[in-house]
Amino acid sequence: MRVPEKVAEVLIDEETLARRVRELAAEISRDYAGKCLLIVAPLKGAFMFLADLLRHLEVPAEIDFVRLASYGAATEPSGAVRMTKDLECSVEGREVLVVEDIVDTGETLGYLIEVLQRRSPASLRVCALLDKPERRQREVEVHYRGFAIPDRFVVGYGLDFAEKYRQLPYVGILRTEG
Ligand code: IMP
Repeated sequence: MRVPEKVAEVLIDEETLARRVRELAAEISRDYAGKCLLIVAPLKGAFMFLADLLRHLEVPAEIDFVRLASYGAATEPSGAVRMTKDLECSVEGREVLVVEDIVDTGETLGYLIEVLQRRSPASLRVCALLDKPERRQREVEVHYRGFAIPDRFVVGYGLDFAEKYRQLPYVGILRTEG
C-alpha cells in the first residue's frame, strides 16, 4: 500500500472500510425496505464512500449532489457555510438520506439539514462515514455512523487536503509537522 510522505499513518485500512460500508448498507437497506431513497451527497468528499455504499444497497435509490463551502483555512472551518450548488430535484415527500464523508464541528451538516428540512421531505436521516465527536460545536443527529475518530485531520477515501490525497484507498492521518 502506497503511503505518501504527508500521511503520518493509516487510520482505517481498505478492508476495514469495506467491511463497515457493507454493514452500513445492510442496516440502511433493512430500515428502508419497501421504500425508495433519495440520497443527497455533498461534493466532493463523499463521492467514494457514496459509490461503495450504493453498490451494496438493496433498496432503490436516486442520488443528487450539493456543494457546500465554508469560509476559513483548509484545516480549520470557520463555521460560516453557504451552498454553492443546489440539488436538481425536489425533496418534498421523499425519504431523504444525506450521505456525508465526515462530521467535524457539525456546522456544514447542520446547515444542510436545515435547508432540506424546510423543503418538507417525508423523512430525513444522515449517514456519515467518519465522525469527530470531540470537535462538535453544533448538535447534529447522525443515524448511521461508520467510525468515530480522534481529533486529527484525515485524508483519503475521498477526503482531501487542498484537493490532494482523495484517491488514497484508505483513511490516513495528515502529517502536520515538517
Ligand atoms: P464541519 O462543518 O466542521 O462539520 O466540517 C465538515 C467538512 O469539513 C467536511 O465535509 C469536510 O469537507 C471537511 N473536513 C472536516 N474535517 C476534515 C478532515 O479531517 N479531513 C478532510 N476534510 C475534513
